[in-house]
Amino acid sequence: MKQNTGKKLYNTGKKLYKNLTSSFLVGMLTLAVMLGAASLEAKGKLSYYCSAQEDWCQLMARTFEKETGINVNMTRKSSGETFAQIKAEARNPKGDIWWGGTGDPHLQAAEEKLTQAYSSPMNAKLNDWALSQSASANGKTIGIYSGALGYGYNEKLLQKNNLPVPSCWRDLLKPAYKGHVQMANPNSSGTAYTTLATIVQLFGETKGFEFMKGLHRNINQYTKSGSAPIKAAARGETTIGIVFMHDAVKQAVAGFPIKVVAPCEGTGYEIGSMSIIKDARNLREAKMFYDWALQADVQSMALQVKAYQVPSNKKAKTSKKAPDLSAIKLIDYDFKKYGNSAERRRLLKKWDDEVKSLAL
Ligand code: G6P
Repeated sequence: MKQNTGKKLYNTGKKLYKNLTSSFLVGMLTLAVMLGAASLEAKGKLSYYCSAQEDWCQLMARTFEKETGINVNMTRKSSGETFAQIKAEARNPKGDIWWGGTGDPHLQAAEEKLTQAYSSPMNAKLNDWALSQSASANGKTIGIYSGALGYGYNEKLLQKNNLPVPSCWRDLLKPAYKGHVQMANPNSSGTAYTTLATIVQLFGETKGFEFMKGLHRNINQYTKSGSAPIKAAARGETTIGIVFMHDAVKQAVAGFPIKVVAPCEGTGYEIGSMSIIKDARNLREAKMFYDWALQADVQSMALQVKAYQVPSNKKAKTSKKAPDLSAIKLIDYDFKKYGNSAERRRLLKKWDDEVKSLAL
């Protein structure tokens, strides 16, 4: 009897100790989680929409996170798609900053009051073209890089298929290239919208649309992302890809048999841009990212991922491998007109109705 009572007492004590230990552990754990959340809260967070190449987007996000302790939540989508997302979320914005992608949809976002003005102390360090982009949007966007449009082709596939070497935009209409040309869809991709606007500016609207219809006969696929066609050419899945020239250079530098073409008639270019989303929940962090992204050493990081755009900070490093914009016949691309909301919508609808609807 006595023995049983002792044992009972011992067991109750053991249970109590176990309960106490586990509630102590739970308590400590909760405290740790709370402290963690509080320090995250103190360091802040940033919802970052990115429309440049995935590897560059990632590098920017992870480096900013490392340097500031701010937690970055990244969404990578093409320029037109990101514009559509920001517009759809306008009543309840989920993004704080939009970095990269062609300037036209950034200008459209500014006009549609989806982004907000900010004058960074870093503006003084930037090239004029970056600042004029900002001026035309009343400070609601800024140029971060620029690059010329063109195309690239897979030299081995070209030879294998006995195709002539192309050097002009008009060459791409030759029947011999049927099924050999790839470009992105201008609704989702800023690269492809720049292509459409460039052709219209080069040849006039009527002839430009005739050109797009002729090109359509040779297209094997319209991709979502602007740089996808040259990645496909590098893999041997298409012969020609219409892209920004720096995207074609990236594949050539990586060792693929890609040749880069600056079309003989002249070509358009982009001013890749950055904007702060209106009513951003993390405005302080968005501004921190904005100032940080305009620094010379941050823009120089582009070379680590073979992004050969021209940086907007005058002191940022460039590479000899990058296309030399001064040696390319550039048109006087009308950013104001083609970044205008009504004009962009009108051209895209016309392309959908008159070009995309034709059988491939
Ligand atoms: C690539 C280029 C960028 C360009 C972007 C546009 O990432 O390197 O210079 O801004 O494409 O992407 P999108 O998919 O919208 O054509």
